[in-house]
Amino acid sequence: MTDQPNVGRVGIDDVVIRFPSKQAETTALDRTSLTLEPGTFTALIGPSGCGKSTLMNAIAGFVAPSEGRLSLDGAPITGPSNDVGVIFQQYALFPWFTALGNVRFGLKQMGLPKAEEIGRARAALEEVGLSAHADKFPQQLSGGMKQRVAIARTFVVGPKVLLMDEPFGALDAQTRVSMHSLLMGVWQKHRATVLFVTHDVDEALLLADDVRVMSQAPGRMIRHYALTQQRPRAFSRSGPELLEIREEILGLLRPEDDLIAT
Ligand SMILES: Nc1ncnc2c1ncn2[C@@H]1O[C@H](COP(=O)(O)OP(=O)(O)O)[C@@H](O)[C@H]1O
Ligand SMILES: [Mg+2]
Repeated sequence: MTDQPNVGRVGIDDVVIRFPSKQAETTALDRTSLTLEPGTFTALIGPSGCGKSTLMNAIAGFVAPSEGRLSLDGAPITGPSNDVGVIFQQYALFPWFTALGNVRFGLKQMGLPKAEEIGRARAALEEVGLSAHADKFPQQLSGGMKQRVAIARTFVVGPKVLLMDEPFGALDAQTRVSMHSLLMGVWQKHRATVLFVTHDVDEALLLADDVRVMSQAPGRMIRHYALTQQRPRAFSRSGPELLEIREEILGLLRPEDDLIAT
């Protein structure tokens, strides 16, 4: 068992995010308050356009809130920092670096001696099962492998918070399942506070301690489920509650389907 961390608490207090435009202002995120407790894994689910990525971008320090406060361990978030790692759906690896080079890039600003930088990068690649592919370039890697490099590159600097925006959305179902167990392993070892955006209710229920459901735009938090089922979870063996919650969330998200159809 890893020790529970006491850092990585994200405070989101009365945050509203608006994007002004010539015609009309968009409220991308309605008044939202929530705390991500240190070392927890929160899944965020909600209709397309409800403000999930906007909230992530705000926590990452890329977007300033129009109202309210965002903090990390009590200090206001004023811009991007190494304490907050980000993984997107598109792989965002540097095509001109090898897998090892991409992971080393994450370590660059730490100013380590070269041998230690390489050693740490290799260890991180080993943790995600890519030792044999360290010298390959992104275009030689499968989608799942590229996301494993991204995970290694992000965790290697020891972020307190990890934001993942539909990270496995572009992967096939089978690869996604193996990414789930890989991510759980890496997360349980490093214990960053994770906020994980997904369209996939099952993914949220299999991975997260907390599942937050957002309304249609402008997004608000409408439901919170605290899950205590042991990991690794599976619908076949994690008890009927998980299936009940699944039905409930699917019901909450269904009105969106009607809107798309019309
Ligand atoms: N940089 C931006 N400028 C203007 N509008 C934006 C910007 N980013 C997001 N939006 C708008 O904010 C709303 C929420 O977007 P987003 O956070 O991407 O939703 P989600 O990730 O839940 O699909 C959408 O209406 C989107 O068009
Ligand atoms: Mg999004």
